[in-house]
Amino acid sequence: MSTFTAVKNEGSLKSGCEFNIRQIREDFPILNQSCYGKSLVFLDSAASAQKPKSVINAIKYCYEHEYANIHRGVYLLSERATQMYENTRAKVKDFINASEASEVIFTKGTTEAINLVASSYGETALSAGDEVILSRMEHHANIVPWQLIKERVGIEIKIAPIDKNGNFLLHEFEKLISSRTRIVAITHASNVLGTITPVSDIIRLAHAAGAVVLLDGAQAVVHSEVNVQKLDVDFYTFSGHKLYGPTGVGVLYAKKKWLEKLPPYIGGGAMISEVKKEKIIYAPIPEKYEAGTMPTAEVITFNESIKFVESIGMDNLIKHENEITNYALEKLKKINSVKIIGNPKNKAGVIAFTVKGVHPHDIATILDEDGVAIRAGHHCCQIFHKKMNLSATARASIGVYNTKDDIDMLCKAIENCRKIFDLK
Ligand code: ALA
Repeated sequence: MSTFTAVKNEGSLKSGCEFNIRQIREDFPILNQSCYGKSLVFLDSAASAQKPKSVINAIKYCYEHEYANIHRGVYLLSERATQMYENTRAKVKDFINASEASEVIFTKGTTEAINLVASSYGETALSAGDEVILSRMEHHANIVPWQLIKERVGIEIKIAPIDKNGNFLLHEFEKLISSRTRIVAITHASNVLGTITPVSDIIRLAHAAGAVVLLDGAQAVVHSEVNVQKLDVDFYTFSGHKLYGPTGVGVLYAKKKWLEKLPPYIGGGAMISEVKKEKIIYAPIPEKYEAGTMPTAEVITFNESIKFVESIGMDNLIKHENEITNYALEKLKKINSVKIIGNPKNKAGVIAFTVKGVHPHDIATILDEDGVAIRAGHHCCQIFHKKMNLSATARASIGVYNTKDDIDMLCKAIENCRKIFDLK
């Protein structure tokens, strides 16, 4: 179990936040290792976060003590596993402030959650000529499912622009809304620029035009409070693995009216009340959307990752991340030939950058030799990179366990990279 309490920072780590960074780091066994003889500096949490002991122990405990298929067995073990699985649903409901647990659908990740909406909503509520608005900084997971619907149904896709700093342009977005706009599907936080989008205004404008809103919360859920009722959002999606939880589990939150109205995404066991040759009667929500054997141990374990975040407190988490991000931005700006991509007003701990004269893949490879793990490439955002005339960028992303020392190591490794390429 994690046993974090909010205490003043102590020790030599330069966090300055009101929580014990040393204790937090000790809770992540994976961080305590070296790569090529150098201490590991993990700066790729936007791709997938590392796991605290409570999560690691919970999945082992589940398989040792409480694992069986759920919603099927009449024996004690299955009933216990079912109860644990449903406990996670109740935990997620509280975490995002849904009005009912049945509005929480488990998927295998954000990608599947968005595909579910695009498919179920797209094929029933959209017709040829209807419009979907996305933004310039969407992840492919929030572009390709809509392109698939475009191919099947003939919808139009409009792209809301961003400014050169990576800010979402609300007035330009407003101009795109038309009487044919049916759904607005936008990221809550960009996985390249870190931009936190003005979601309340986006939802207000979309609803005023009679459109529904889906938010891709894969990044935002670790960087901001998510309150789906306050947002009044129709669909909200996120993944467990970026929230310090297991892979293979994600969440689709949807308003009950949509879940009751839309057809299921996939069919199979557990999602029906009755199957006759000529007719299927679906199970009530949420089971209607959870066909087949679900990632049971992962969902059960996901409860622990939310408890972990709660034990630290989202406020503390955000404060720490902002402090480390600002420190990183200041230090990176001082390195010759480093260019930070974007400068949005409201930003999560995701920093894309280039080093003039060095391909991002070379940067990441050289940094790796210094023990610094970052991501390089298009980060599943080719439309954004193309618009910026970039083939790729390097990206450092901050997790709860990162420190100013990590940033110092990042900068030192970039200096080393500059030396190797003989940059002035
Ligand atoms: N979506 C993840 C990222 O941005 C994988 O790296």
